[in-house]
Amino acid sequence: MKVIEISTAGAPEVLRFAERARPELGKKEVLIKVAAFALNRADIMQRKGLYPPPTSDSDIPGLEVAGTIIEMGSAVAGHSIGDRVCALVNGGGYADECVAHADMLIPLPSNMEMTTAAAIPEAYMTAWQALHWLANLQKEEKVLIHAGASSVGLAATQLAKDARATVITTASDAKHTICQDAGADHCIDYQNESFAGVIKDKYGGVNVIIDFVGAGYLGDNVKSLSPDGRMVILGLMGGLTEELHLGHVLMKRLKIMGSTLRARSQDYKIRLCQDFWEHCGPLFATGALTPRVDRVLPWDQIVEAHHVMERNENAGKIVMTVG
Ligand SMILES: NC(=O)c1ccc[n+]([C@@H]2O[C@H](COP(=O)([O-])OP(=O)(O)OC[C@H]3O[C@@H](n4cnc5c(N)ncnc54)[C@H](OP(=O)(O)O)[C@@H]3O)[C@@H](O)[C@H]2O)c1
Repeated sequence: MKVIEISTAGAPEVLRFAERARPELGKKEVLIKVAAFALNRADIMQRKGLYPPPTSDSDIPGLEVAGTIIEMGSAVAGHSIGDRVCALVNGGGYADECVAHADMLIPLPSNMEMTTAAAIPEAYMTAWQALHWLANLQKEEKVLIHAGASSVGLAATQLAKDARATVITTASDAKHTICQDAGADHCIDYQNESFAGVIKDKYGGVNVIIDFVGAGYLGDNVKSLSPDGRMVILGLMGGLTEELHLGHVLMKRLKIMGSTLRARSQDYKIRLCQDFWEHCGPLFATGALTPRVDRVLPWDQIVEAHHVMERNENAGKIVMTVG
């Protein structure tokens, strides 16, 4: 099969096409003929040698694909050859064929394009997990979503609005309309305004924060949380370190959590996928939830696609078509 592999750690130019042997299928696995895959920040970190995949996973990057089932393991039930699906995968998505666990398959609504479907699994399952499983978001609560125009940020905004929360996002100025189109009630230009100042003056505090920035934001995040507030840290785009004001944590009874989806067990991912799709499948079918696809490129433009993401030019998913 044809893949895009990381020849050595480095800049986007280290990505190259290669031929690999078809992977062996486990009993509960299927082989997908990949029509499209989407990029993630994790792919960039992996390419740079900063986020090696778990040893049990493929070394080929790519965490989400959409395509057609072409082969099934002996214990797979409820799916058929030819089914159109998308899936969160344990690596190997940058390929024309990819293995997925059968219990992680999301059946595509008949009217959904492959390039739309490829943009769903990672962003929405991450956002669903953060808002509902970890932060236990409640109706009428206020949620601050950083990197509001990121793929995960936009998915979180749509899901939080569906849960009837008030959504405040941070994003660079040019991306505010995109955040508002996703449902954000208020968008803060984090490059020119203090988000903590806006939260304090306009809202008094927020119940939930979804953070992807880490250092530089930690102190202001803790200040911005209301009593019994919860914060989920999903990324560290701003770096690793900053002192934590423990007095706020103590006095406001804060809960600060972190999570990376890739490192979760297969069982956890299956439960998450099934819970997510049970609630959100009907909303995708009617179009009430729609991933924002920033651009679709042929997969031979993978080097340019990585550069676009590293320059923060995208707002939503970069999707690559295969073939
Ligand atoms: N923990 C998990 O399970 C999990 C799963 C998936 C993704 N993630 C993380 O989620 C984050 C977003 O991923 P994505 O694929 O959705 O990204 P994306 O679509 O590429 O968007 C990232 C956006 O974040 C903003 N940004 C970048 N650096 C920033 C900084 N230092 N401070 C503030 N904003 C910054 C930029 O928008 P502006 O122009 O607005 O600055 C950028 O376009 C990443 O950190 C990724 O690693 C975590």
